[in-house]
Amino acid sequence: MSEKAVGIIGIGSYLPERVLTNADLERMVDTSDEWIVERTGINTRHIAAKDQPVSALALEASRAALGKASFSPSALELLIVATVTGDMPFPSTACVLQEKLGAFNAACFDLNAACSGWIYGMDVAWQLVRCGRYRNALVVGAEKLSAITDWQDRNTCVLFGDGAGAALLGHTSSGGEIIASCLGADGRWGKLLYMRGGGSLCPASHETVDQRLHYIKMEGKEVFKQAVTAMAGAAEAVLEKAGMRAEQISCVIPHQANMRIIKAVARKLAIPFEKMCVTVDHCGNLSAASIPVALDEAMRGGRVRAGDYVLLVAFGGGFTWGAMIVKM
Ligand SMILES: CC(C)(COP(=O)(O)OP(=O)(O)OC[C@H]1O[C@@H](n2cnc3c(N)ncnc32)[C@H](O)[C@@H]1OP(=O)(O)O)[C@@H](O)C(=O)NCCC(=O)NCCS
Repeated sequence: MSEKAVGIIGIGSYLPERVLTNADLERMVDTSDEWIVERTGINTRHIAAKDQPVSALALEASRAALGKASFSPSALELLIVATVTGDMPFPSTACVLQEKLGAFNAACFDLNAACSGWIYGMDVAWQLVRCGRYRNALVVGAEKLSAITDWQDRNTCVLFGDGAGAALLGHTSSGGEIIASCLGADGRWGKLLYMRGGGSLCPASHETVDQRLHYIKMEGKEVFKQAVTAMAGAAEAVLEKAGMRAEQISCVIPHQANMRIIKAVARKLAIPFEKMCVTVDHCGNLSAASIPVALDEAMRGGRVRAGDYVLLVAFGGGFTWGAMIVKM
């Protein structure tokens, strides 16, 4: 590996303390543990406290990532937060996080590519560090989806959770090198997964609240199909870019939306399911936080060893998708 390789030099994650079980959901909507487990693979998810905005989750994950690299917040040059549940429309959650971290030398912005947001952020940061514009970057995926979940809609409320993950990018000579990355989007599918209220299209009003426009709406079946096709396509595209074959990948960290999606993607790529990292069972769908949380768990759990090639692959509202290969 060259001295100048750019890659992940620290990673961390945070899940809020409170755990919401399928049995809890049975008491809230007309559902059952059996249905949720069979159709989604989810058993539990973490839910942030009322006084924990998404920046508080991002802070914990960021401190963990910086701590792993013994990196001072004041040395940080770029801070990107990928989220659809920012503390407020503006200022950016990245600016809020900057203050909490004390990272006052960092340029800050939020990035919205829904569940693909962290991969988008990583791609942008990778290019900016690679070309020398910044020497390092912290890319955070953080979501408090419980704040935009309709707890009366059984089609969606069983699926989501809260959490955050963060990766510190910089020059590395000891692993974590990013090998290849690709991104994509197709705005024609936007209305299959969206939150209509609260922006300039439908500013918040009594009517928008009455019409429940401030919650996630999703056409689950169609999203499912598109997620499988797009994630498999992105994985194939990034493998081709890297000049690699699927057999060379030791571990896949897919977006965690549904166990059946993860299994279908593995089948399409002809990658054994044992190589797929799964957190959806205990986290649910964490949107932009799902991949960094799963990567951190995989590393802490010893699933990823030095020299392994890891494939990260995302899909989300927009639709957006992306994939990245990292040599650990
Ligand atoms: C949402 C999802 C789990 C639904 O699973 P599905 O197998 O497609 O289920 P369907 O939509 O066909 O619904 C089947 C039935 O279960 C019902 N159902 C939906 N949610 C339910 C729940 N929580 N409990 C019990 N029944 C439920 C539906 O009302 C439907 O009933 P009907 O046949 O009487 O109309 C699945 O489509 C999915 O995971 N989609 C993708 C989600 C995703 O990836 N989102 C984010 C992408 S970033």
